[in-house]
Amino acid sequence: MVQQPTAMTGATILHLITVAILITAATSQAPPTKYVNHTVGDTASWFFNSTTNTTATNYSSWAASQTFNLGDYLIFKTSSNQMVTQTYNLTKLKNCSIDDSSYNDTFAYNGGNTVFNPALTKIVPLTIQGPNYFFSDASDGIQCQHGLAFDINASRGLGLPPSLNQPPPPPYREPPGPDSAYPPITTPTKGEGAGSSGFKNGASVQVIACVSLFALLAVNGGDRGGIF
Ligand SMILES: *[C@@H]1O[C@H](CO)[C@@H](O)[C@H](O)[C@H]1NC(C)=O
Ligand SMILES: *[C@@H]1O[C@H](CO)[C@@H](O)[C@H](O)[C@H]1NC(C)=O
Ligand SMILES: *[C@@H]1O[C@H](CO)[C@@H](O)[C@H](O)[C@H]1NC(C)=O
Ligand SMILES: *[C@@H]1O[C@H](CO)[C@@H](O)[C@H](O)[C@H]1NC(C)=O
Ligand SMILES: *[C@@H]1O[C@H](CO)[C@@H](O)[C@H](O)[C@H]1NC(C)=O
Ligand SMILES: *[C@@H]1O[C@H](CO)[C@@H](O)[C@H](O)[C@H]1NC(C)=O
Ligand SMILES: *[C@@H]1O[C@H](CO)[C@@H](O)[C@H](O)[C@H]1NC(C)=O
Ligand SMILES: *[C@@H]1O[C@H](CO)[C@@H](O)[C@H](O)[C@H]1NC(C)=O
Repeated sequence: MVQQPTAMTGATILHLITVAILITAATSQAPPTKYVNHTVGDTASWFFNSTTNTTATNYSSWAASQTFNLGDYLIFKTSSNQMVTQTYNLTKLKNCSIDDSSYNDTFAYNGGNTVFNPALTKIVPLTIQGPNYFFSDASDGIQCQHGLAFDINASRGLGLPPSLNQPPPPPYREPPGPDSAYPPITTPTKGEGAGSSGFKNGASVQVIACVSLFALLAVNGGDRGGIF
C-alpha cells in the first residue's frame, strides 16, 4: 500500500510527459514536406476591371491565407491587361512603379503577346527568403494603387530545389594531380577542439547509461531472485 502512490506518481509523470510531447507536436507548425504551387487569387485569378477600378479579389487577404516557402511557385492566371512584377524593394511596391530598377531587385514577367486580351499564365518561382512583393505596374500604377498588389514572406521550408538553385561558380582551383584522387583527410588533434571533447562527453554519457541500466537490471533481478 505504501508503494502504490509512488507507482502512481511515476505513471502520472510519464503520462504528463507524453501529453506535453503530444501538445508540443500539435501546436508547433508542421514542417513543409513538399513544394507548393499557389494559384494567385485562387479562382478569381489575377484581374483588374478598369471600368470599376476594382480587383477580382482581395489579394492581401489571399496572400495572408497561404504559407510560402522557397521553391514554391506563384501561378498568375491573367491576361495581357495586367502585369506581373516581382520585387524585393518595398519602395517599388509603395510607388507602384518599376522606375530605377536594378538588375536584381525587380523582375517583370511580361508575356510579350500582342493579341488583345489573350489568356496568359505567368509562373514565378520563390527563390529568395523573406519579403517578396508583387504588383501590376500596368495603367501607370493605377491597378496597383487600387489593390492589384500584395506582399508575402517566403520562409526557408525545404530550401531551394536543385532546379532553382544556381549558385555562382566556385572560385577556380588548381586541379589535383594524379596522386591526389581523394581529398586529404584531416584528423583532429587528440584531446583538443570541441569535436573531440564532445565525443568524450558522449562516450561518458553512454558509459553512465550502461552502468545505470546494469544496476537497474541487477536490482530488479535481485528482487525476483533471478539472473544475477
Ligand atoms: C508547379 O509548377 C512548376 C512550374 O510550372 C511545375 O514544374 C511543377 O510540376 C508544378 N508542381 C505541381 C505540384 O503542380
Ligand atoms: C467590369 O465591371 C463592369 C461593371 O460591374 C462589368 O459590366 C464588366 O463586365 C466588367 N469587366 C470585366 C472585364 O470583367
Ligand atoms: C483587403 O483585406 C485587408 C484585410 O485582409 C484589408 O485591410 C484591406 O483594406 C482590403 N483591401 C481592399 C481593397 O478591400
Ligand atoms: C515613383 O513613380 C513615379 C512614376 O509613377 C516616378 O516618376 C518616380 O521616380 C518614382 N519614385 C521612386 C522613388 O521610385
Ligand atoms: C529601392 O528603390 C528605390 C526607388 O527606386 C531606390 O531609391 C532604392 O535605392 C532601392 N533600394 C535598394 C535597396 O535597392
Ligand atoms: C543585388 O545585388 C547587390 C550587390 O550586387 C546585393 O547587395 C543585393 O543584396 C542584391 N539584392 C537582391 C535582392 O538580390
Ligand atoms: C480609377 O482610379 C484612378 C486613380 O487611381 C482615376 O484617375 C480614374 O479616373 C479611376 N477610374 C474610374 C473608372 O473610376
Ligand atoms: C518572415 O518570416 C520569418 C520566419 O517565419 C520571420 O522570422 C520574419 O520575421 C518574417 N518577416 C516578416 C517581414 O514578416
